[in-house]
Amino acid sequence: LDNGLGLTPVLGYNTWNAFYGSIDEDLVKGMVDLLVSSGLKKAGYEYFVIDDAWSNMARDDEGCISANSERFPSGMKSMSDYVHGKGLKFGMYSDAGERTCLGYPGSRDHEEVDAQAFAGWGVDFLKYDNCWAPASDWVIDRYTAMSKALNKTGRPIVYSMCDWGVGNPWLWAPQIANSWRTTGDVGPSWESLLRCLDNTIGLSRFAGPGGFNDPDMLEVGNPGLTEQEQRAMFGLWAILKSPLVIGTDLRKLSKAALKILTAEEVIAVNQDKLGVAGDLVYKEGPEEVYAGPLKDGSRAVALFNRHTSGTQYPISNITICWESIGLDPEEEADVRDLFAEKALGSFKGSWTGAVDLHDVRMVRITPKAARREHGEWRP
Ligand code: GLA
Repeated sequence: LDNGLGLTPVLGYNTWNAFYGSIDEDLVKGMVDLLVSSGLKKAGYEYFVIDDAWSNMARDDEGCISANSERFPSGMKSMSDYVHGKGLKFGMYSDAGERTCLGYPGSRDHEEVDAQAFAGWGVDFLKYDNCWAPASDWVIDRYTAMSKALNKTGRPIVYSMCDWGVGNPWLWAPQIANSWRTTGDVGPSWESLLRCLDNTIGLSRFAGPGGFNDPDMLEVGNPGLTEQEQRAMFGLWAILKSPLVIGTDLRKLSKAALKILTAEEVIAVNQDKLGVAGDLVYKEGPEEVYAGPLKDGSRAVALFNRHTSGTQYPISNITICWESIGLDPEEEADVRDLFAEKALGSFKGSWTGAVDLHDVRMVRITPKAARREHGEWRP
């Protein structure tokens, strides 16, 4: 969407994956404080988003949506001020149907009045869900209506479509939204992570500055994934140019999870100004290579080991060949490990990395020769 926003994927926090509908004012403020004190804000996480269950169950007499009187008694403007007071941006949630997935009022047929309310509260980001949609209504119309209503407010609001991939949104959403979901809901399991990933393979060409594929929010930090699996999710989502939205209880954040979420050189791949999404470029059974171009002519590469747990050889040696990332096989290139933040040396033609089971190795491959045509390559 050409609204000047989301030129790189959104970095932020959302309440859903950790708390579902059990949210209130104190919890939100606590998470906002921790986002700052943990160093996550400094690492780039900027948007704090309150997901489903923030409103009252019914609209008021004027037809307006309002903050839940019991759990958010100070109101949404006050939440927004709190978030802005910490130097963050404020995001909210609504739905393109009659109700949200938890049964709160949706914005269908109330797009303008709700968009005005959001703008009045100082909202900078809207996640727009797809529950309770009237069967007669076309998904494109429902999502376009809110896009127009947000635009009409005059306030810059990132528009994040949560359509679950319904109606192949990558084909039409780039015109109306800053991101669109490519999958159903993620959960804290290896199988779910693979499903979200596989549904996004081959879609890189639809993404670009202002509009990105969204394989759903991060499960990094949540029970259900090993440390390797959390690193794999983060690295792969970064290279796919997915929004990186944290969804874990920051009070319980382990050192290992914090280290993954603040991996500066991996975040830099995601936020690279070229804004071209990486994609699967090579696969041999459960050994996969994802890659994409970066602005300076380098390539970001993720070697991914998705062998089944319990296999005889848990560590895989995976090779990236220069040809599969548009480089001359004769070309010398520097290889740098992005999670380890370490130069690995200079190589010609290919590089092979040892990858732990269910893990990624993320590297940046920088050809020695001048920048030349390197920026032109796409997966
Ligand atoms: C859907 C979305 C989730 C979350 C819930 C809220 O399932 O895909 O991300 O917003 O609704 O009810």
